[in-house]
Amino acid sequence: MQVYVREARESDREAVFEFCRHTWSWGDYIPHVWDKWLKEANGKVFVATVDDVPVGMQHITIDKSGEAWLSGARTAPQFRRMGVATAITVKCLEYAKSMGVKVARLVTEAVNTAAIAAVQRMEFKPVAEFIEMELEKPSSKESASSCWADVSQLEDVWSFLQTSEVYRRAAGLYTILYHWYSLDMLDLERFIQQRKAVVHVDGDGAVCGLMLVDDAVSSDWRENAVQTCYVDGDFEAVLDMAKFLLAHCQTKGVEKIYGFTCNHPPIIEALEKAGFKKPDSTAIIFEKRI
Ligand SMILES: CC(C)(COP(=O)(O)OP(=O)(O)OC[C@H]1O[C@@H](n2cnc3c(N)ncnc32)[C@H](O)[C@@H]1OP(=O)(O)O)[C@@H](O)C(=O)NCCC(=O)NCCS
Repeated sequence: MQVYVREARESDREAVFEFCRHTWSWGDYIPHVWDKWLKEANGKVFVATVDDVPVGMQHITIDKSGEAWLSGARTAPQFRRMGVATAITVKCLEYAKSMGVKVARLVTEAVNTAAIAAVQRMEFKPVAEFIEMELEKPSSKESASSCWADVSQLEDVWSFLQTSEVYRRAAGLYTILYHWYSLDMLDLERFIQQRKAVVHVDGDGAVCGLMLVDDAVSSDWRENAVQTCYVDGDFEAVLDMAKFLLAHCQTKGVEKIYGFTCNHPPIIEALEKAGFKKPDSTAIIFEKRI
């Protein structure tokens, strides 16, 4: 069987949608993002074909200098275990390398044994485990020492991250929707400037907690919701920042909070105490240096 990989075309739509029809029990999100992905300036979709018919796909974006993100790997059920996903990934990585990318990342559910086996075979390494918690109908709780970070605190917050165990366990990554990025100082500054960074300070005024938030879920998932993108601090700090966020959401009429965080027990316990529910599975971020 000859597998050929090329950039996707608009005319691949029907064949791709057909083999994505039953990816998960609820279907697949590919039809919702196909048009957007094909038009992206910083991304590409590749398909694998057999006898000119698409039998697999994958999407890649080049996010910031040196970093790529892979998503939407799909192989038609009757063509699995024939090297299709591997062939597409090789092509994506060749393209990424030609664009100066040094590291490629992707996420998969911890229960997705096929995907995990496939990416490990391609020498991607697991670097972090994240969890997506949820809280419906935030109710107002009083926080003691948390507030929106001020630009003047940028250096302090950055220093806090540099010695943070959570930042290390999170492989220095934060997420927006289901897409992980390295959290560098410029990102941090942007979060602070946009009033999307909550900090917790100790009795001496030193930064000892950080919670980054974003509202992309409300436009992308069409929900009246926000998400946490990165959470850091001990139990007390995280609980206090969560209370601050809940109060903010209640004031703004936000109905749901997705609590994305590195799977670090004190953080999970604090978020549960604040009312967040834990999911059944976790998400593993894999990375490959190219
Ligand atoms: C995950 C997926 C894309 C893999 O596609 P594929 O074309 O079958 O993968 P490949 O044939 O390139 O597999 C390469 C290697 O991965 C491993 N692998 C792939 N599927 C496996 C499975 N079900 N069980 C165990 N190992 C598996 C094997 O080592 C395989 O090599 P081998 O067949 O020579 O032993 C495919 O199963 C799929 O579409 N799943 C549903 C969607 C999905 O889960 N996407 C990933 C989201 S992160």
